[in-house]
Amino acid sequence: MLNNMRILLIISGGIAAYKSLELIRGLRRRGAQVRPILTKGGAQFVTPLSVATLAQHKVYDDLFYLTDESEIGHIRLARETDLVVVAPATADILAKMANGIADDLATTALLATDRPILIAPAMNSRMWANTATKRNLALLQANGVMTVGPAHGELAEGEIGIGRMAEPVDILASIEAALGGPLSGIRALVTSGPTHEPIDPVRYIANRSSGKQGHAIAGACARLGAAVTLVSGPSSEIDPPGVEMVHVETARDMMEACLKALPVDVAICAAAVSDWRPAEAGTQKIKKDKRSSSTAPNLALVENSDILATLAGRENDRPRLVIGFAAETDDVLAYASAKLVSKGCDWILANDVSPDTGTFGGDDNKVHLISRSEAEPMAGPNIEEWPEFSKVEVAARLAERIAQSLGSAA
Ligand code: CTP
Repeated sequence: MLNNMRILLIISGGIAAYKSLELIRGLRRRGAQVRPILTKGGAQFVTPLSVATLAQHKVYDDLFYLTDESEIGHIRLARETDLVVVAPATADILAKMANGIADDLATTALLATDRPILIAPAMNSRMWANTATKRNLALLQANGVMTVGPAHGELAEGEIGIGRMAEPVDILASIEAALGGPLSGIRALVTSGPTHEPIDPVRYIANRSSGKQGHAIAGACARLGAAVTLVSGPSSEIDPPGVEMVHVETARDMMEACLKALPVDVAICAAAVSDWRPAEAGTQKIKKDKRSSSTAPNLALVENSDILATLAGRENDRPRLVIGFAAETDDVLAYASAKLVSKGCDWILANDVSPDTGTFGGDDNKVHLISRSEAEPMAGPNIEEWPEFSKVEVAARLAERIAQSLGSAA
């Protein structure tokens, strides 16, 4: 709920402005007060009347600027608010924000505010990919501006790509998180996806992990307000909104990135880290040896270090809660309970990945949560069966359980 939270909503000029009407409705339903600013461009897509009607508040635009200066003034407008939201945020307004340009009411308010700012970018995918936009965005993020989206999907011109404004429900979740979800103030580290272990410059050892579960967990924790670092191996999943991404290839890179992210309050290791890597990765492509009867090379493998066990075993900066996954095809609970102990973590999510379940790469996940019995350490682990949930639902439930656990421990 956002009871009586004051949101200054800036609607800039893009086709996605129509979705801002839905956003206003969602904000009002959650009890927020909405003060809308409509830019000249925004007014080409939605009318001041529809914005004012839904917001139940007058709309500030450049026409009202001069008369309102005497009443409220752009400085007060910018400061008497709990959060400034720019949705949609065009490439143009991002550029102005990044460079401190104030040439209308919206950009003047953005320059004058000392309140947190959340932007929901929306633009053509080529504009989004342009280095100028990337540079502006990096500057804004470095200055603490929060972002949600953009999402992948159909764009205004009928093209498919990244650039669609995040859906109103995702923007609402980010607003709730920014204003204090149950995980706000909590730092979370999540690993996701497979790792690629190079054999030579063109070949590698990998596995079938898609990264769906880890990415969903990172997104769910961020939605509850956690500051999330997601260390991901190669995955075709889209970076979840509001998460700090670290893209890696190998298990060794993943380990390094995880240690760099410490200290954190909670670590969730959902990556399918390759257990082994070639002892030596060729710097040139290995050729078939035509002289011998067999052209198959002998691949010597060495073991990769265990990231989960390493995090759980840290002495001075061990996360308060260390969570692993156990992907098993048989005797799921027994093997997973043994892993809880051998890896030294606090919770294990046991996954049945036998071939007929379709878990690897699929959307659903059959899960048990196994935890150490804190009251009676000798009594064996607690086992809780979660009904079959989608990976997204498993992630949401896990994020809520983490909030409960860390909240009660605080
Ligand atoms: N894990 C890790 N680093 C590794 C290997 C695994 O962090 N080098 C983590 C995974 O992210 C997961 C958990 O350990 O949370 C269990 O991984 P799994 O591959 O099921 O276990 P293994 O230790 O590889 O055991 P086995 O393959 O024998 O089942």
